[in-house]
Amino acid sequence: MAKKIASARISQSSSALLQELNQSLPFDKLLYIEDIEGSIVHSQMLCNQGIISQSEKEDIHKALKQVKEEIEEGSFSLDGEDEDIHMAIERRVTEIVGDSGKRMHTARSRNDQVALDFRWFVQKQTLNVAQLVKQNIQTLLTIASQHTDTILPGMTHLQHAQPINFGYHLMAYASMFKRDYERFIDSYKRNNYSPIGCAALAGTPHPIDREFTAKELGFYAPTLNCLDTVSDRDFALDMLYNISVLMMHISRLSEELILWSTSEFNFITLSDAHATGSSIMPQKKNPDIPELLRGKSGRAYGNLMGLLTVMKSLPLAYNKDTQEDKEGVFDSITTATLSLRVLDEMMIAMRVNESNMEKASMVGHLCATDLADYLVKKVGIAFRDAYHITGDAVNFAQSKGLDISQLSLEDLQSIDGRIDSDVIAILDNRASMNARNSQGGTSSQQTKRQIEIMKEWLESV
Ligand code: ARG
Repeated sequence: MAKKIASARISQSSSALLQELNQSLPFDKLLYIEDIEGSIVHSQMLCNQGIISQSEKEDIHKALKQVKEEIEEGSFSLDGEDEDIHMAIERRVTEIVGDSGKRMHTARSRNDQVALDFRWFVQKQTLNVAQLVKQNIQTLLTIASQHTDTILPGMTHLQHAQPINFGYHLMAYASMFKRDYERFIDSYKRNNYSPIGCAALAGTPHPIDREFTAKELGFYAPTLNCLDTVSDRDFALDMLYNISVLMMHISRLSEELILWSTSEFNFITLSDAHATGSSIMPQKKNPDIPELLRGKSGRAYGNLMGLLTVMKSLPLAYNKDTQEDKEGVFDSITTATLSLRVLDEMMIAMRVNESNMEKASMVGHLCATDLADYLVKKVGIAFRDAYHITGDAVNFAQSKGLDISQLSLEDLQSIDGRIDSDVIAILDNRASMNARNSQGGTSSQQTKRQIEIMKEWLESV
């Protein structure tokens, strides 16, 4: 049986099982910095407002700084029986400076305290993750700019469709990551309001200054409504959703890296540092790293669904259910951070097998659409009719074991007499890629333009 720390109403000791279920210290100890710095600013405000004395404030500050040192050097263990990080720190502060320590909790509650600590932690991590996303965009831009003329088959339905360049393909992922970055920053801005001073649910009769604490802690302003604030976990859901979408993008890219590193594709070679062997098949080199990145999206989605479910149906205001908000968020942050670091390293180290990409582009009649477009432009027939004539050309090439770009002028004219010698320059993968010069298209010129625009954006944020 453990003694209750924060209970005037309950006289009996807690059941050991209650203690085990109730305790959040094993995971919320991660918030010790925010808790201590939040208390420093809160007690400064109490002193400014004449709610505690100068010497009480000094005692509290001295003790809080000491507790931080003790935690960091390991002499104050956060593996004890305290209910949570807030109780643990307050207990130790009070042990160090006695009665002054007890005044630290004036005009606040653990409800606004945990809302502050957790929100502030998530805000900092939001900027960290966004920074790592930015780094990945930079890497994609670097690789993309080396491959604006490297042809590979662009696919739909995972079937060869039209020739594109590898830089263009990577710029699709850079575009996804740009949206991710913006999503993190949007959330940061939306949530950068301070919860401290909301107290239990209804504010406080003490003459506090929430503007001061908000500004000191780096928030734009205090939140509007205390009842909402103590039970609001939208900031955590934003983080979980943003990470879920990010991990989905990472998973899609990983899937392509896995496909591209098969013997069938052989478009890329992962560096040995990012592949593993098989315990039984000595010849194997497995893409475990992209597989893990692909798999990790699962836990990110699970964490999002977990917290959405916790929050659903909670009446106002604080309920202990919300203590379940933290572990999933911590896990998603760790997952996203590690994944982004690994992805970046892996992309930098991988080899691009340009000639295999080019070779693969000679299969699947990638220029077929170009013949149809030629017939529309040159002969003036409807696209539908051109489509059928081109189908005949594809079948003809197929029957001879050739790609459509390998047919001779005579072959093509035997299919439709209106086809002229200028068709030869058009039925070429590189010409086809460069012909798609419409804005946002795959031509080398358009790809370079996309890279330039993205570079300028990256420098502006
Ligand atoms: N450990 C709690 C949490 O994470 C702190 C808030 C407790 N407040 C309360 N009224 N019991 O949510």
